[in-house]
Amino acid sequence: MSLPVVSSQTADEAYEDPLDLIEEIDRLKIEKDATILAHFYVDGDIQDIADFTGDSLKLARDAVNVTTSTILFSGVHFMAESAKILNPEKKVLIPDLLAGCSLAESCPADKLAEFQQRLRGEGRDVVTVAYINTSAAVKSLCDWIVTSGNAREIIDRVPADREILFVPDQHLGRYLEEVSGRKMILWPGACMVHEIFSLQDMLRAKRNTPGSMVIAHPECPHNILEHADFIGGTEKLRRHVMSFEEPQTFLVATDAAMIHAFEKSAPQHTFVPVPGIMTDSGETCACNRCPHMARNTLAKVRDCLKNGEPEIHWQPYFDKAQDVLQRSLLD
Ligand code: 13P
Ligand code: SF4
Repeated sequence: MSLPVVSSQTADEAYEDPLDLIEEIDRLKIEKDATILAHFYVDGDIQDIADFTGDSLKLARDAVNVTTSTILFSGVHFMAESAKILNPEKKVLIPDLLAGCSLAESCPADKLAEFQQRLRGEGRDVVTVAYINTSAAVKSLCDWIVTSGNAREIIDRVPADREILFVPDQHLGRYLEEVSGRKMILWPGACMVHEIFSLQDMLRAKRNTPGSMVIAHPECPHNILEHADFIGGTEKLRRHVMSFEEPQTFLVATDAAMIHAFEKSAPQHTFVPVPGIMTDSGETCACNRCPHMARNTLAKVRDCLKNGEPEIHWQPYFDKAQDVLQRSLLD
């Protein structure tokens, strides 16, 4: 199934021809010496004009190989912030500063510091492992940073006799407990998108499409993951669908924008987005798109390149976050 054409223009933006915008962006990229990085969850038209696309891990690594003086990060705030921390000398732009993340918001730095203090008071010397979906202030309080792509590997590096505090995603944490066999203290955060897939609709779609396979992001709750045929971060899911040569039908339990990347990489397959839960009026809501990622539009990418802002500025706590990010993602 191919997705309906998704326009990256929002209702409050005056209509501009996407082809004109793309031409302007290509010209501005050269004029401003910029490289565009785009996460798989932004609209397909932005993924198509990006120099690099990928998951959080790949994009963080791509960012350090950029040779231009400016990086435009089309994604959410913690991703652009990480790109800045790993590239202090570069100008890092983000099309919309309000593109946040419900997971990052669920773990404020002062609350984490308080909790760590309490555990220390109880004589518990924990190793704090944070998902990359956190603010830089939180990262600066942590021992390791993981992404969906390297989490298992990092957890395995923590000595078996040390207790782990995992923040902020309880569902990813629970999944990691299962695959690594390590019990952890889990922060009670969750992703607003992955938390509300409809189990009922997913099971109905699976029954109605014999032979279909559910592929799910580990940010989904256990009730979805236990019915998944394959679980992985966005890049792992992309590689998984590419490994099937014969046409298959995949039911996708992650942000529906990801289907653009799947269709480009494995056009022989059919991808069906798992819908969100029912609304009060009995309709299935389109909650399977991250509203933060959706703030990225072609017009905002153009404006951001043209004006050189919004920009991620260096903050004092970035120094500590830099140590942990480099050690976790680049070494
Ligand atoms: P990935 O690192 O798997 O791309 O996940 C990022 C994210 O925000 C998922 O919600
Ligand atoms: Fe954050 Fe969820 Fe959006 Fe990913 S999909 S950026 S975890 S709110």
